[in-house]
Parts: sequence; structure tokens; C-alpha cells
Amino acid sequence: MAPSLSLSVALVIVLLSGKCTALLPSYSPSLTACPDTSLTRTFTATSQELNQFESDFIAARENSVIHQSWKSWLKNGSAIGYNTTAFSNFARVGLAFSGGGYRASQFGAGVISAIDARNATAVAAGTGGLLQVATYLGGLSGGSWLTAGLYMNGFPMVQDMVLGSQPGWLMQQDLLEPEGSAAIINTLQYYSALDQSVDAKAAAGFNVTIGDGWARALSYHFLGGTNLSNFFDTSSHGAGQLWSQIANADFFNNHQAPFPLVVLDTNGTFDLTTESIPLDLPVYEVSPFEFASFDPHISAGAELSHIGTSLFEGVPVDNASCVTGFDQAGFVIGTSSNIFASLLSVDTTEIELLQSLLGEPIEALNPAEAVVSKWPNPFLGIASAKFVDSSNAELQLIDGGSNGENIPLNPLLVKAREVDVIVAVDGSADTDDNWPNGLSLLFSAERLSTILGDSHQQLPELPSSTDDFVAQGLNLRPTFFGCNSTDTPLIIYLPNSPPLTGDAPFCNAPTTQVQFEVNETQTILDQTYFNTVGGFVPNANSPDPNWGRCLQCAAVDRSRFKVTPTIKRSAFCATCFTQYCYNPSNITSSSELPNRKLTYAGPASSSL
Ligand SMILES: *[C@@H]1O[C@H](CO)[C@@H](O)[C@H](O)[C@H]1NC(C)=O
Ligand SMILES: *[C@@H]1O[C@H](CO)[C@@H](O)[C@H](O)[C@H]1NC(C)=O
Ligand SMILES: *[C@@H]1O[C@H](CO)[C@@H](O)[C@H](O)[C@H]1NC(C)=O
Ligand SMILES: *[C@@H]1O[C@H](CO)[C@@H](O)[C@H](O)[C@H]1NC(C)=O
Ligand SMILES: *[C@@H]1O[C@H](CO)[C@@H](O)[C@H](O)[C@H]1NC(C)=O
Ligand SMILES: *[C@@H]1O[C@H](CO)[C@@H](O)[C@H](O)[C@H]1NC(C)=O
Ligand SMILES: *[C@@H]1O[C@H](CO)[C@@H](O)[C@H](O)[C@H]1NC(C)=O
Ligand SMILES: *[C@@H]1O[C@H](CO)[C@@H](O)[C@H](O)[C@H]1NC(C)=O
Ligand SMILES: *[C@@H]1O[C@H](CO)[C@@H](O)[C@H](O)[C@H]1NC(C)=O
Ligand SMILES: *[C@@H]1O[C@H](CO)[C@@H](O)[C@H](O)[C@H]1NC(C)=O
Repeated sequence: MAPSLSLSVALVIVLLSGKCTALLPSYSPSLTACPDTSLTRTFTATSQELNQFESDFIAARENSVIHQSWKSWLKNGSAIGYNTTAFSNFARVGLAFSGGGYRASQFGAGVISAIDARNATAVAAGTGGLLQVATYLGGLSGGSWLTAGLYMNGFPMVQDMVLGSQPGWLMQQDLLEPEGSAAIINTLQYYSALDQSVDAKAAAGFNVTIGDGWARALSYHFLGGTNLSNFFDTSSHGAGQLWSQIANADFFNNHQAPFPLVVLDTNGTFDLTTESIPLDLPVYEVSPFEFASFDPHISAGAELSHIGTSLFEGVPVDNASCVTGFDQAGFVIGTSSNIFASLLSVDTTEIELLQSLLGEPIEALNPAEAVVSKWPNPFLGIASAKFVDSSNAELQLIDGGSNGENIPLNPLLVKAREVDVIVAVDGSADTDDNWPNGLSLLFSAERLSTILGDSHQQLPELPSSTDDFVAQGLNLRPTFFGCNSTDTPLIIYLPNSPPLTGDAPFCNAPTTQVQFEVNETQTILDQTYFNTVGGFVPNANSPDPNWGRCLQCAAVDRSRFKVTPTIKRSAFCATCFTQYCYNPSNITSSSELPNRKLTYAGPASSSL
């Protein structure tokens, strides 16, 4: 996304330069004695190991929760032509929520609502239940904001999360200019508060950048502690809430939610035609337990609760100086959504303005330094032959979709995770009207086949170009990829798409829109919910009454191979698959999806 600030703020900031000196310490990491246990681990691409806490979580969730959730969702299976009791093990499902700013967060939230077994309407539609059978949930950029909204707030239901108080995303308050330019003093107070917490981190000896100010701004919306009444006061606004604390939450310890993973990319040169960085740059993931990379050249993990510690070859440089509190939830999602590096080659005015709003020490940085999010490198000294950052004390990290892979498939395709089905929730803005066109899947397919052959599962066959995706209508309705493939996961592709009813769309707001009125957000949630429970009927504008059961067919399909002898695909599911599977020898057309309105019906522009 490309945020921009109005000139008025810029002018006033030059006039007002008084700065408060009281620092907010809770965003600041602190030093402790190092634990006796090792803070890092390494493995190899061909003998991957998952973090032990992750493996334990997965085993417990699958045994104690997921098995029962399948039975609650599919009942005895007769509605889709199976006998549920005959499945000894069910397919392992992962959900992946793409980037795309507030649009993607809201679209993802509408999808969650539609697949949540706690929502009776969604259960009646047959789609409610998919969330509860998922083992993993990945998010990047705007999708990581949704992930934080869920995991840092007790895994609430969507309506409470977005428009209620758990935490309430407060999108009516502009992310960059809260209260708008009419209340400029408030905006300045806001920047001063962001600045104070960032200064506290700097005072503790850490290099800070715009990425930290961004982290703090996002915390007002996606973490708990902020409401419209206290928005401009000096309370903590989510500072001190750590990603590693997810592991202490009751819902997590009761295994009531999928295992979350957030994707981060390495800074690099943006290609101006593809607007992406090279695919060979390392990709990282953050779980509640670990900062890791399953890229073959890295194959290492570092304990998240001590991330920020200076390590050499995996060992603390100083046993008395281990770091805690660096894994601020705001910083995790702020890094995953750090798009400022992509603006650098376009225009530095915006960046310099943000630098001046945040003051020293960020103001003094070269813009190229100021745009990245800086993480002390936990893998310093390892894999020196092939890991590009092996000899760098810091990692320069940016938005998890920067390499063009805007859907967080990477962590879900790690071979050791053995995921059978991936629900790819794509809120990318690839077309002129901010709809996806399959581009992210194509980028992932390329990185997987050229770089991740040893470490990751591959994607099934896809259309060869984004033009084909669009011509075949695959970006306008749900599609299953790899239905008959035996060596890849099955992909359930849920693109953000125009209302199937033919209504004017509000769910394709531009990525730059960082302010939404409550009624706009409600409309987006409703439209995306309705599409997700609706499927499609060829040549019509009505929902498919069978879609909920067809989604069940896709989710459960791979379970058939976990039984000996293999269970035959049911006749009902085979019929569903004729309609919903991508079949290269029987291609579909966008003309089968009539009256879809593509043009955004929301406000022409927000305060930007
Ligand atoms: C740090 O502590 C570990 C384990 O307690 C020990 O093995 C190591 O030698 C210590 N390192 C230093 C530099 O003191
Ligand atoms: C499944 O349940 C339905 C009603 O709930 C019942 O009619 C049907 O006989 C059951 N089928 C099997 C295979 O148990
Ligand atoms: C369902 O499968 C179980 C386990 O294989 C079997 O005991 C049961 O008889 C089956 N039910 C029906 C209605 O086929
Ligand atoms: C279920 O989802 C719909 C659509 O988003 C929403 O209107 C409704 O409030 C939800 N129900 C509950 C109990 O959250
Ligand atoms: C901060 O940046 C400086 C200069 O780039 C570097 O030498 C130093 O190691 C960094 N500090 C930390 C804590 O990583
Ligand atoms: C806003 O949040 C603060 C701090 O959590 C709380 O004290 C206050 O009651 C809240 N105000 C409203 C209107 O919810
Ligand atoms: C990030 O990458 C760009 C493009 O290669 C480079 O110009 C810039 O210096 C890098 N930033 C940092 C902090 O390394
Ligand atoms: C939201 O409310 C405003 C003011 O009443 C109205 O102009 C606008 O059309 C509404 N938007 C939606 C999406 O309902
Ligand atoms: C081709 O797909 C259409 C649905 O898109 C289906 O009605 C038709 O039966 C399929 N034909 C074959 C040969 O599978
Ligand atoms: C999958 O296999 C079935 C049975 O062989 C066949 O009818 C169907 O067309 C195939 N579907 C795809 C998408 O290849």
C-alpha cells in the first residue's frame, strides 16, 4: 500500500516542534540473563524439523479438537455421500490470508465469519466449520493485521473483533491522520505518542526506523487497549503486547485456534515493472514460539521470546544480555506490512515527511535506512556459504508480500508440516479495480519450483498467466486447484470478488484507503460474507445452495487417501468438483459469471 499524508500536516509539523520527554517504556525491550537452553536450532532442507512446541500444539489440537470439529461440521457425512466414521484421519487444512491493507483485513474477516462454526448462519450455509478444522493459519501484511486481531484478542468472533470492542479496529479513525486534518492538534499528539514509544526502544540501544512508528500506529487498531475515547491519551495502546504471549493465552492452550504463522521478507531492489523484489531473497516466518526460515539455505529457527538478542553462530554473545520484549505484536505485523521500502524508488517526499513526524533518531537517517524494519540477526554466522545475511548483525525486513507472493502459502507448504489442503484467501489488488488476478499464486509457483524444491511442497497446475485467470473467470468465484493431483495439496482459492448478486462492490477499496466509516466496513463484511457462503451458479446471480457442501467435499477430499483401502470420491462430491475444480482440459469462461460489477462503489478517496 502507498499511504500519503496531507500537506497541511507537514506544514504544521514544521511550526510546532515542542516535544514531550516522558518515554513510554513498554515498547522498549529489556535485558535479562540468558536461559540455559539453546536459543536457536538448525536443520536441513531434506531433514526438516518443526519446533517442538509447534509439534506438540499440532498433535494436541488435532487429537483433542479437530477430530471432533470435523464430526460437528460434516455430521455423519451422509449429506456429501460419505460415512464420517470411516475416516480414521482427516486431511490437514491450512488457511492463508493475503496482504492488501485494510481491504485485505476486512475481506479476510468476512471470510472468517463465513467459515466460523460459532456463527449459526454460516453453519446453516454449510461453510461454518472450516475454521475449526484448520491446523494452521498464515497471514501476511493486511492478512497479518487480521491475524493479530484474532490471536492478540482471545480469538474473538468477527463482528466483535472488527466493529465491537474485541479490540474494535476503529477504522473510522484514519491510520495516518486520525480525526483528519480538521483536528490537526490531535494528529500531532498522536505522532508525539508514537514517537515516545519508539524513542524508548532507541534509548534501550536498538536501531529504530519508520517501521517502528508504523508498528505503533497499527497497534492502536489491531491490538487491545484503544477505543475512541482514549485514542489520543498517553496510555500504552498495545505497546508491551508480545507475539510470544499468544502461547500463554487460554484459547491457545486449549488448542481452540489454528497455529498462526506470519510472513516477513528481506529488503531488496524493487523491479519497477513487477513492483516486487527478487525471489531469491530470504523469506522468514514468525510463530508464537519462533522466528524461522525454512528456505533451504537457512533452515533455522530462533526462540521468539528472546529475539533481539545478539547471537553468533546461535550462541549469545553475552550471557548476561539476552533480550526480551523485542517481539512486540505491533512490530511483527508492522514488519509484515512494511511497504515503505517499495515507495523509496517512487518518491522519497512521503518518507521524509514521516521521518520528520517521528523526529530523532529516525529523522537523521538516510531514507533508504529509514524504510526497513530492523531485526538483530539471530542467524549471524550460520550457513555462511549461501545465506546472504550470514555476516550481517541486523536483518533488514519488509512487507511479507514484497516478492510478489502476496498469499502466505510459503509456511503452509513447508514439507514437514504435511498440509493437505490450503484455503488461499486472496485480497490482492492486481487489476485496475483492485481485484486479484492470480498473480500471487503464479509468483509462489515460480519461487517454489526454482528455489524451494527440497524444502516445500509444490503447487498444483495453474493457468499459465493472469490473463487466463481472468478470461476463465477464476478470479470471480471460488475454484479448487489440484483436485486430482496426488503429489500436491489441494488449493481452495477464494478470491475477493464482486458480489455475486450483481450489487455494487465496496470490498475492492484501494490499498491506500486507510479510513472506513462503520457502515462501509459493515457493508464490506456483509458482502464478503455473502460471497463466501454463496459459491456461484453458472450464468446466474444467485448463490449455489450446494456450495457449503461442495466446500466440505474439497476440505475432506484428501482424507480419502489416509484410509486403506482408499475411499472412492462420492458421487455428490464428484459433481461439485465438475463445477468448482480447475480442469485444464475443460476450461471455463468469465462470461458464465454475468452482471458482476467491477468498479469500486465506495468514496472516491478518503482523507488521503
Ligand atoms: C553461556 O551459558 C551457557 C549455558 O549456561 C554456557 O554453556 C556458555 O559457556 C556461556 N557462555 C559464555 C560466553 O559465558
Ligand atoms: C446420517 O444421519 C442422517 C440424519 O441425521 C440419517 O438419516 C442417516 O441415516 C445417517 N447416515 C448414516 C450413514 O449413518
Ligand atoms: C460407517 O463406518 C463405520 C466404520 O467403518 C462402520 O462401523 C459403520 O457401519 C459405517 N456406517 C454405515 C451406515 O455404513
Ligand atoms: C454471522 O455472520 C453474519 C455475517 O457476517 C453476521 O451478520 C452475524 O452477526 C454473525 N453472527 C454472529 C453470532 O456473530
Ligand atoms: C545499529 O546499527 C549500527 C549501524 O548500522 C550497527 O553497527 C549496530 O550493530 C546496530 N545495532 C543493533 C543493536 O543491531
Ligand atoms: C476506553 O479504554 C479505556 C482503557 O482501557 C477504558 O478505561 C475506558 O473505559 C474505555 N472507554 C470506553 C468508552 O469504552
Ligand atoms: C534496501 O534495499 C535497497 C535496494 O537494494 C537498498 O538501496 C537499501 O540500501 C536497502 N536498505 C537497507 C537498510 O539495507
Ligand atoms: C454510510 O453512511 C453515509 C452517511 O449516512 C452515507 O452517505 C453512505 O452512503 C453510507 N455508506 C454505505 C456503504 O452504506
Ligand atoms: C465441463 O465443465 C462444465 C462446467 O463448467 C460441466 O458442466 C461439463 O460437464 C464439463 N465437461 C466435461 C467433459 O467434464
Ligand atoms: C478428475 O478425475 C475424474 C475421474 O477420473 C475425472 O472425471 C475428472 O474430470 C478429473 N478432474 C479434473 C479436474 O481433472
